[in-house]
Amino acid sequence: MMLAPLRVGIAGLGTVGGSVLRRLHAQRTALGQRTGRDIVVTAVSARDRAKPRGMDVGALHWFDDPVVLATSDQIDLFVELMGGSEGPAKVAVEAALQAGKPVVTANKALLAHHGMALAELAEAKHAALAFEASVAGGIPIVKTLREGLAGNQVERVQGILNGTCNYILTRMEAEGLSFGDCLVEAQRLGYAEADPTFDVDGFDTAHKLAILTTLAFGVALDIEALHIEGIRSITPADLAAADELGYRIKLLGVAQRVGARVDGRVHPTMVPKSTALAQVGGVTNAVTIFADAVRELTLIGPGAGGEATASAVVADIADIARGIRSAPLGLPVTALGAAATLPVSEHEGGFYIRLSVRDTPGAVAAIAARMAERSISFESIVQRHPPRHGPDPSDVVPVVLVTYRTVESALRDALDAVVADGYIAELPQVIRIERE
Ligand code: NAP
Ligand code: HSE
Repeated sequence: MMLAPLRVGIAGLGTVGGSVLRRLHAQRTALGQRTGRDIVVTAVSARDRAKPRGMDVGALHWFDDPVVLATSDQIDLFVELMGGSEGPAKVAVEAALQAGKPVVTANKALLAHHGMALAELAEAKHAALAFEASVAGGIPIVKTLREGLAGNQVERVQGILNGTCNYILTRMEAEGLSFGDCLVEAQRLGYAEADPTFDVDGFDTAHKLAILTTLAFGVALDIEALHIEGIRSITPADLAAADELGYRIKLLGVAQRVGARVDGRVHPTMVPKSTALAQVGGVTNAVTIFADAVRELTLIGPGAGGEATASAVVADIADIARGIRSAPLGLPVTALGAAATLPVSEHEGGFYIRLSVRDTPGAVAAIAARMAERSISFESIVQRHPPRHGPDPSDVVPVVLVTYRTVESALRDALDAVVADGYIAELPQVIRIERE
């Protein structure tokens, strides 16, 4: 016996919502065959009723208020694609779950800040809360961690999780374009968040990493536990130096077990050109998982944009049509452990350091001495300046250092001493290196 159609209400008809609406329409027959249930959009909400949506929405029930849509008896499933961790998105998702309606969302900010409470509510109401699209766009990373790797102990997850930043860094490196021009283009292409500071300052990656950390390690969702840096400080000089040294610079989210603690970080990272992550350019995302049974698994795919993200949203809708409902965060909320955090000062690894050194005799030796005092040694030292007859103290010379593995607090102490010595003209640029 054919089940009754699944009636879908979509709040948000922008880059993602518009693509979801059109995709559900275009794939309706195939989705009905795949899930055994007709999936039909019956109602929508957005701010501006007159805005063109790429298809006629005149026959659908229109709701000015997404919260009213969320609990409407016109729908069986509420799809939230408005965005924002507070306000209508949060209130509408809570209202839908409270009414026992399943929810699909692409809203990583909402999940990173309220995922625990929302998952608890979903569990209490026996309603699905699905969010595949919230991490890495079209890559099915949530399902991979929650279902595909259920038989593994995950040790580490790392990835390029923000398409906008990867797009900007790739074009800056390859074409020498400015940061600002690349950001404007990423916005035009629909990759960036409504407020693109979320992208470039690392918060969007952190929202996604917080979700992955919970799914990978079974710990409570805690965005506050992550160390977060963005890409604004990366200069063409850093991209060129990285290239010369055999690295690329990527904004990575990294979460790994260190004993009983979790080391969670978001920051620009130098990765060797030979690694899978270094090959990933443009809006493409990639996530590498290190786990005991599969050892190493990398998923690569489009990380942003309407169509790629709609692919993940529609997959979640199809799961709900099939009647699939998992614990949203992989484990019941009450079974998630507390996340003990490794402070970034205890992080151990290699570092790239770019210094603007005053061109005086003994400057580099003094810097090296400050490092040696803390047992920090160098894999390479590169000092470059235009040809001249001798030192010129009014000038500064770029010096690039690459350290062997060292503890971050020791490096920061050494650099504080270097700054105090007065041999450098600007604050040091420091970029962590991940060699795997
Ligand atoms: P967007 O293009 O800015 O679209 C937002 C939509 O929400 C618009 O249709 C807007 O209406 C509607 N909206 C905003 N406030 C509303 C309110 N109070 N009541 C009713 N409707 C409201 O955003 P987007 O890029 O599609 O992103 C949507 C969500 O998907 C966000 O959570 C984002 O983080 C997530 N996401 C985006 C991408 C991507 O590549 N863009 C990828 C993954 C996840 P109007 O159209 O009338 O203005
Ligand atoms: N702004 C996000 C990005 C959208 O650039 O990756 C996808 O989550």
